Amino acid sequence: MSKTTSPASPVMRKVAEKDVSSAMAIAGHPIHAMAVHFPIALAIATLGVDVFYWWTGDPFWLRAGLWSAGFAFAFGVAAGLVGTAELLFVPGIRSRAASWTHAIAAMMFISICGMNWVVRLAEPSSVLPLGLGLSVLGAIFTGLAGWHGGKLILHHGVGIMVSDQE
Ligand code: HEM
Repeated sequence: MSKTTSPASPVMRKVAEKDVSSAMAIAGHPIHAMAVHFPIALAIATLGVDVFYWWTGDPFWLRAGLWSAGFAFAFGVAAGLVGTAELLFVPGIRSRAASWTHAIAAMMFISICGMNWVVRLAEPSSVLPLGLGLSVLGAIFTGLAGWHGGKLILHHGVGIMVSDQE
């Protein structure tokens, strides 16, 4: 098992002094971590649905893509609002560069999801190639945002460290 050591850099030692326990939690369970599964799953599902439409030409997949893209965006906004509250209210989260990297990747992801939904609403046939391209981009940014979000938990102990008050 790895041993926990204090960071070598004096800057990181200063950052590590700040509380990183979640401000938006239910019985100690961070709401953001529970919420992010929905936009991630729906964005990947939208890509799958677009590939099926490309493959079969069945308009059922156009309707399915409209709904999954819309809900990916809506759940992304909801998860993003909770994540933003964590970022702004928790000093140990706010002061970590990794939190801002994650937030930027996540906001890009949400914007792509929004665009992917709106182009379908405006013109359903725009799925090929525009919607499919946005779904591929969305899947890439899901990975980027999720990777950096995971780093906050696994590398920085954000949301899982027990604070002095508990
Ligand atoms: C847009 C604003 C967002 C901000 C400011 C933000 C901020 C945060 C913060 C502070 C954490 C640490 C855990 C916590 O305190 O709850 C986190 C974790 C995480 N975030 Fe975000 N987030 C945002 C949006 C998103 C979105 C849209 C996704 C979906 C791709 C996402 C995916 C993740 C993942 C996967 C984790 C790790 C959760 C775990 O492993 O349990 N975040 N985020």
